[in-house]
Amino acid sequence: PLVNMTSMLAHADYHGYGVGAFNTLSIEAVRGAIRAAEELRSPIILQLAQVQLDIAPLNYMAPVMLQAAQNATVPVVVHFDHGEDMDHIKQALDLGFSSVMYDGASYPMLENMHLSKIAVDLAHTYDATCEAELGRVGGSEDGSKDLAMLLTDVQEVKTFIAGTGVDALAIAIGNAHGAYKESPNIQFQRLREINRMTEVPLVLHGGSGISEEDFRKSVKGGIQKINVATALQQDIVAEVHKLCHGSFKKPSYSKMYTVIEEAVFRAVKRHITLFMSDGKA
Ligand code: 13P
Ligand code: ZN
Ligand code: NA
Repeated sequence: PLVNMTSMLAHADYHGYGVGAFNTLSIEAVRGAIRAAEELRSPIILQLAQVQLDIAPLNYMAPVMLQAAQNATVPVVVHFDHGEDMDHIKQALDLGFSSVMYDGASYPMLENMHLSKIAVDLAHTYDATCEAELGRVGGSEDGSKDLAMLLTDVQEVKTFIAGTGVDALAIAIGNAHGAYKESPNIQFQRLREINRMTEVPLVLHGGSGISEEDFRKSVKGGIQKINVATALQQDIVAEVHKLCHGSFKKPSYSKMYTVIEEAVFRAVKRHITLFMSDGKA
């Protein structure tokens, strides 16, 4: 069934696991991800970021994601990722998304807080949840251009949460979008300090490229939602490449469809196991 993030992330916090939030840009990806969650009896978040709407338009993907969520035998959140303006956030809510993120990380803290509160209040009128970001995650959401990282200031956490009422907080602790140039240096001490400041569930963006050990330490340190996008795309491309180059015969379209769905299925299952959310639904 379709749910928002409140009960899902509270359960994850209580039982000490993380929920994977996977960017799914096609029907193949949505179906592969849901199948993985159902097979492993795991809650799951399907999401689509504003920068991805050129590839996967909101009004096309919303019914696909919502249909998958409603028919699923595990709890599913349909989340609008990295919303940059209220028009898009409202559009996602009107289409039935059960959760949204407002990304005001490029603004000074007080402006980010003010704008995030507007998004939170709007989402709550739809019984939807809202995530916001304090500090700025490295890289850009589409992995294209470099954006400097700005670590979350521990002292700002309480003010920001009290001033916004956010349901989940994305933090910057050395994590970055896209493939990491050097191996990531996740600041677990800072994570623990942030976690001590608040009861609000914490979100780790930039999941692709983070090691298994660091994932486990992140979940132990208080992360309840982990965003993964690039890793799925890389696995899809690798499998399609293998299919096309593995034989002189051209593959059929239906075979290619299956290969994409399988690539997402396997990648999502791998992450669910790493985040220890299997068997929790
Ligand atoms: P990656 O592409 O690094 O997995 O980051 C995903 C993300 O943070 C989506 O919001
Ligand atoms: Zn992100
Ligand atoms: Na990453």
